[in-house]
Amino acid sequence: MRAHVVPDYEAMSAAVADVVAQSLAEEPSSVLMLPTGTTPLGMYRRLVEMHRSGDLSFAGATFFNLDEYLGLPPDHPASYHVYMKENFYGLIDADPARVFVPDGAAPDPEAECERYESAIKEAGGIDVCVLGIGRNGHIGFNEPGAPFDSRTRVVRLSESTRKVNAADFEADRAPECAITVGMATICESREVLLLASGTNKAGAVAAAVEGEVSESVPASMLKTHPNARLFLDEDAASDLGQGVVG
Ligand code: GLP
Repeated sequence: MRAHVVPDYEAMSAAVADVVAQSLAEEPSSVLMLPTGTTPLGMYRRLVEMHRSGDLSFAGATFFNLDEYLGLPPDHPASYHVYMKENFYGLIDADPARVFVPDGAAPDPEAECERYESAIKEAGGIDVCVLGIGRNGHIGFNEPGAPFDSRTRVVRLSESTRKVNAADFEADRAPECAITVGMATICESREVLLLASGTNKAGAVAAAVEGEVSESVPASMLKTHPNARLFLDEDAASDLGQGVVG
C-alpha cells in the first residue's frame, strides 16, 4: 500500500481524478466502483469538468456504487442514488444501462445483494475501486469486524457511523442498516484508491497504515492488496509516523 501525501483537499481531489481519468483514457470500458460521502465530491467535480471540456468520456465505462442505505427508495434525498445522480452520473455521459447502485428498497434485500454481486462478476470484476474511509476505519459500509471474506450483503451500521451521517436525515435518525459491497469484493479490484482528508480521519488512516492487518480496522485489509494507493491531504496524514510513506 503506497501513500501519496499532498498539501490539501483540492490537491488530493485532483490527484485521484487524474488517476481515474488516466485509467479511462487507457481503457474506455473500465469498470469503476465508486464511493459517496463528502470526501469524493472534489474528485467528482474535477471529472465532470474534464468531461465538460471534452477531454473525457464515460460512455464506455461501467459503474458500481459501494453501498446504499437499507429501506431508502432511490428518490429519497439522502439516498446514494440521488447523491450519485446529482454529483456525478447525471452530469456525465454515463450509459444508464451500465450504472449500478444497490437498491435499498428492494423487497428481498438478500436477493438484491446476490444480484449485485453477480452483476459485478458479469462485468468482469472491478478495475478501479475508489474508497473513502470512515472515522472508525470503515470502507463502503463494512464496519469494524466485517469479515475479510465477506461479499455484498446487508449490514447493521455502527452507532458512531449513524451519528456522523445523521444530519442527512429527518429528526437526525440515520437508517439502522445498509447494503454494502463486501470486503473480498473490494479486495479483488485490480486497483484500489483510498481518499482521506482532514484531521478527523487521521486516526483511522494511521490505524490502517501502521497497525496490524485486522478485521477491527477494515481499511487495514488494503495492506494485503497488490495495487492499493492512499491519497491523503496533510491533515489526514498528520498521525502517521516517519518512514511509512513509500
Ligand atoms: C459513509 C460511506 C463511506 C464513506 C464514509 C466517509 O458512511 N458509506 O463509503 O467513505 O462514510 O464519508 P465522508 O467522506 O463523508 O467522511
